[in-house]
Amino acid sequence: MASEFTVFLGEMIRHPGEVRAIAPSSARVARMMTAGVERVTGPIVEIGPGTGSFTKAILDRGIAPERLILMELNPRFCDALSRRFPGVTVLNKPAQEIEALGLQNVGSVISGVPILAQADLQRAVVGSAFKVLADRGSFVQITYSPNSPISAERLAEMGLSVRKRGTVWANLPPARVFEYRRKLQ
Ligand SMILES: C[S@@+](CC[C@H](N)C(=O)[O-])C[C@H]1O[C@@H](n2cnc3c(N)ncnc32)[C@H](O)[C@@H]1O
Repeated sequence: MASEFTVFLGEMIRHPGEVRAIAPSSARVARMMTAGVERVTGPIVEIGPGTGSFTKAILDRGIAPERLILMELNPRFCDALSRRFPGVTVLNKPAQEIEALGLQNVGSVISGVPILAQADLQRAVVGSAFKVLADRGSFVQITYSPNSPISAERLAEMGLSVRKRGTVWANLPPARVFEYRRKLQ
């Protein structure tokens, strides 16, 4: 069977605009992305899981597979995810369609979707996620930029606050993790 890295590299070559990374995220990034997920209630949705670096970390934190839903655009990654993580719901659907799943009070959305480049994509992906997130739910995003991929202006427009969890240098390329929440009155 092809290794995780080989599958990832093959899909990066076929779909560079969607995959936008040269390797799966490291275990350190996965730990930072999933920190605290064991304390949330309700379903957990991972968007853009690729070959499953964050999926593994979520399950390693004791989350039951039945609570985890993956939304991944790439059908080859979906096949590999279904084989690797029995019991987890794997949907070959874009993250923009999260509302149509009919979920409520989602505890956390963990995002590997590259949202940096396009403002429209940010609104569609992040805006839709906050329609299903619980009041205190979090949207956690990986980025290779040192700054929040969502600008201060757009955060104000969407009523969100941001916190940088940190930088992981031991990743190719170095990664940053940002956490977004609703500004509660
Ligand atoms: C940079 S890779 C990250 C993979 C994995 N989370 C990791 O960190 O190793 C981005 C992933 O997002 C997926 N993707 C891109 N756009 C998407 C969208 N709109 N909805 C769902 N998945 C998407 C790609 O197919 C790819 O698997």
